[in-house]
Amino acid sequence: MKGYVVLISIVAALGGLLFGFDTAVISGTINFIQPYFGLSEAQLGWTVSSLLFGCIAGVFFAGKAGDHYGRKKVLMLAAFLFFLSAIGSASAHSLTWFIAARILGGLAVGVASILSPMYIAELAPAKYRGTLVSLNQLAIVVGILIAFFSNYLLVDTGVNNWRWMLLVMAAPAILLFVSLFFVPESPRWLVGRNQNDAALKVLQKTSGSAFAETELKEIEQTLTRQEASTYRDLLAPKVKPLLFIGIILAVFQQITGINTIMYYAPKIFANIGQSSDSALLQTIAIGGTNLVFTLVAMLLIDRFGRKILIVIGSLGMMLMLAGLSALFFLQETSGSLVLVFILGYIAFFAASLGPALWVVATELFPNRLRSKGMSIAIVSLWIACTIVTIAFPVMLEKLSGGTTFLIFAVICLANLLYVWRYVPETKGKTLEELEADFAAG
Ligand code: BGC
Repeated sequence: MKGYVVLISIVAALGGLLFGFDTAVISGTINFIQPYFGLSEAQLGWTVSSLLFGCIAGVFFAGKAGDHYGRKKVLMLAAFLFFLSAIGSASAHSLTWFIAARILGGLAVGVASILSPMYIAELAPAKYRGTLVSLNQLAIVVGILIAFFSNYLLVDTGVNNWRWMLLVMAAPAILLFVSLFFVPESPRWLVGRNQNDAALKVLQKTSGSAFAETELKEIEQTLTRQEASTYRDLLAPKVKPLLFIGIILAVFQQITGINTIMYYAPKIFANIGQSSDSALLQTIAIGGTNLVFTLVAMLLIDRFGRKILIVIGSLGMMLMLAGLSALFFLQETSGSLVLVFILGYIAFFAASLGPALWVVATELFPNRLRSKGMSIAIVSLWIACTIVTIAFPVMLEKLSGGTTFLIFAVICLANLLYVWRYVPETKGKTLEELEADFAAG
């Protein structure tokens, strides 16, 4: 039984892998596309962030289309868009063409960023839901690592090296597209479309015959209202607080600074005067730590719960950032302690907020509003991600490393206190039990 669900989750998590790959691949191409297209610094900024505009549109699109056409079909469309984006950006001869292809890829990232975890959550038995949804985070991390490695391996392939780097994405896109033919639709979506027999068949395979009937009844009860849901329904008194939690947690996941390290580590190391030869080594250390501690989270998240993981993780992230900040203030950045604090920070993020945000975001909303609720929360995540990404180099320059990392440390503390006080624990219960709990207040 479990093997079947794991297999389905792996297929869906390929969406996460493509999300990770597509957001990270650009870093290795920058030095080559800038001269090729003759880009100024400002144009480069726009070219790199074009993906993000696609993302925001993609998340909104997925929120609606996922309800209308089903999670699986829209994920297939995302796989197709990833493929088109790979071919399009790799073959671009004009900047307009290149940006258009990157925006298409962004659309796909946006869709995958909500539908992959949501689809897994809707298929997973309650007991393993945290671990299985975290598989998607693991895939994001692996996607980032693959992008870094393949960029490194392809860098010496001549003037077209950046084209090859971008083309690589076509392979996992095809794999996702084809493998989606072999997985079932989400039982929760099927019930919403009155296809209860089909839903029962899926539940029998994922949860076992003993639980399938009861689970189906519970899902049916949550979906009795036939009218289509709208974004306005998210403002209903019982749902609004959950929407806030989703948004705030998603924003915290970004403003605690993870992508300052993920996107700018080489810049930080260069700033403190370390040679760029060690850049690859540092990338591997960062990517490897991220991977290992995501696995740790997968082992812990259903046993100890999401909340305790985030609280301990935020505490650890705060201490590591405070240490980093102190090193900058004391001008003691030449030793290996900088790397130790950075890796410690990554480890705490990967074991907590990294996967836990995605897990909680799939669990907060009632069945009929999950797609829309998640899309608002995750759009907030992408917007926060853009702001931090744009602000970080300026902060480093204007405020110095000491103050910059201190600010992020304080934000970690705020996150800790917020989660401690307001975020409900969601482990172990079915999505319907959670829905009943939240409705009861
Ligand atoms: C975050 C990404 C981040 C990645 C790093 C994800 O959960 O949403 O912004 O780059 O983790 O592992």
